[in-house]
Amino acid sequence: MIRVPELIERKRNGGELADEEIAELVLGFTRGDVPDYQMAAWCMAVYFKGLDGRETHALTDAMIRSGETLDLASALGRRVVDKHSTGGVGDKTSLAVGPIVAACGVPFGKMSGRGLGHTGGTLDKLESIPGFRVELTTDEFVAQIRKVGIAIIGQTGDLVPADKRLYALRDVTATVDIVSLIASSIMSKKLAAGAEAIVLDVKVGDGAFMKTLDDARILAEQMVDLGRREGREVVCLLTDMDQPLGGAVGHALEVREAYETVTGHGPADFGELVLEASARLLALSDLGVELEEGRRLAEMAVSGGAALVAYERWVRAQGGDPDPDVLPSAPVVREVLASRDGFVTRLGAYAVGVAALELGGGRRTKDDEIDHAVGVVCRRKRGDGVDEGDVVAEVHARDDTSAERAVSAVLAAYELGDEPPRPHGILLDVIG
Ligand code: URA
Repeated sequence: MIRVPELIERKRNGGELADEEIAELVLGFTRGDVPDYQMAAWCMAVYFKGLDGRETHALTDAMIRSGETLDLASALGRRVVDKHSTGGVGDKTSLAVGPIVAACGVPFGKMSGRGLGHTGGTLDKLESIPGFRVELTTDEFVAQIRKVGIAIIGQTGDLVPADKRLYALRDVTATVDIVSLIASSIMSKKLAAGAEAIVLDVKVGDGAFMKTLDDARILAEQMVDLGRREGREVVCLLTDMDQPLGGAVGHALEVREAYETVTGHGPADFGELVLEASARLLALSDLGVELEEGRRLAEMAVSGGAALVAYERWVRAQGGDPDPDVLPSAPVVREVLASRDGFVTRLGAYAVGVAALELGGGRRTKDDEIDHAVGVVCRRKRGDGVDEGDVVAEVHARDDTSAERAVSAVLAAYELGDEPPRPHGILLDVIG
């Protein structure tokens, strides 16, 4: 039997915990035997003293063992691939990557989350599609991957219950931003969901959890290490989240942009990330192709129309109508105009994310209803030249008052200068 105060004290003093001690702590907390105040004190000790690779793995393993796990390889007789983003503004990557990968003949099974703070969640985006069901049973999930090649659903309550409890506790005890706890939280869910090959998209910058490339690299290395210890292949893309991804920020607007991207008509930065992530997933799949060939297959799926067919089959399979014209639209659309001639030197992702949230596109409390139609479309991005009065963005709002507020917020997110900023692509680094 563990003595929890002794474990907290040992970690507070910089000592190490044994695997079994960590397992008992986590499983005891999940059962309700270890109270919130002791777990919160332990998390704070971890904030100051950290966990090493072995301890982080022990924590992840215990979290996985707290609930049900899926073995997709046995269920399907195929290597299933999955992707995950650490969360950003305008990040609808899975909605385009899933159909592209499925169109190339690789099963794609993903459990997604809802929005967190200023970042949008894949499930909320999917729910803007009329009729779309995100709550499938595990059997339906597996059956759909087998039949259609792709399923994206909400995480079932039986998967990693320890993370659900621990995340809620961390959220209110200033212990979210701890790399080892973020790594174990993300990876426990990915590993329990059963995919053998995982591409992680670690967002970096103003609109992301990880503000610097150095911090993002540390998180990426820990997640790759956790995957390896569990016998899975993990590659981490480190990608730019200083400005929103693509143009659209807001649920239905993002679904429309993902649709355009699977037909090859999406924004350049988003299209590039989608092809890169798809190529990486194909290279990790059981197709036996290298990265370059994966990229070629992904490009062909888009240009030849197979990705669009896969998108439509997938959305219909989950009860939705794939026609972008049936997506909800906001009654008020306002233009945001450039205040001077020059170049866009900065477009703050966080500010645009908050503007979309305040239009009604996000939740302030967990029970808030969200408005799927509202959001922002950024027509000009970092590096673009503008003349005074050019439309740099559009605000889609429910009413005039919220539209006016968002126009001012989005205008303030644009910084214009005389010289273009130093260009860099969406992909900043790859780990794994
Ligand atoms: N996303 C997660 O799933 N967990 C964290 O701890 C942070 C981001």
